[in-house]
Amino acid sequence: MKIEWDEKWSIGEPLIDSQHKELVKLVNALIFSCDQQSADIPAALSFLVNYTLTHFNDEEALQLEHGFPHYEDHKQKHEELKAIVSEHVANYQKFGSTSYLKNVLDETLAAWLINHIETEDKMIGDFISGNSLGNKKNFHGTNVCFKALKE
Ligand SMILES: [Fe+2]
Ligand SMILES: [Fe+2]
Repeated sequence: MKIEWDEKWSIGEPLIDSQHKELVKLVNALIFSCDQQSADIPAALSFLVNYTLTHFNDEEALQLEHGFPHYEDHKQKHEELKAIVSEHVANYQKFGSTSYLKNVLDETLAAWLINHIETEDKMIGDFISGNSLGNKKNFHGTNVCFKALKE
């Protein structure tokens, strides 16, 4: 399933919004590569993982810069995703199944990404723009359980 970027996902921070759009693009490209059984999947996967790490670092730095009150909690969510991605990447590297990878991207990553942007990341933008004091009123959490991301 291709993710279509929705402007309502913008959090109002240009760097973060452009990185989120890029992440959506990279996930879509990787799903397409899986469909095509493309030879460049390992490189594309590695690029996506690295880009995600860069994004998390930038987003966490932004939170610290602005004194975002849910920094620790947010960082923990990022760590959980890193952990589960690491596990899936290891499985993919072991078994080389593109259908497995596509399923992970479709069922887990895409859902996590959208849910996380809509809830957790949105709170950062709201806090920085002064629209909220960092209340978790919009938070509805993610049911996805994450375990391990390394390369
Ligand atoms: Fe985040
Ligand atoms: Fe984010």
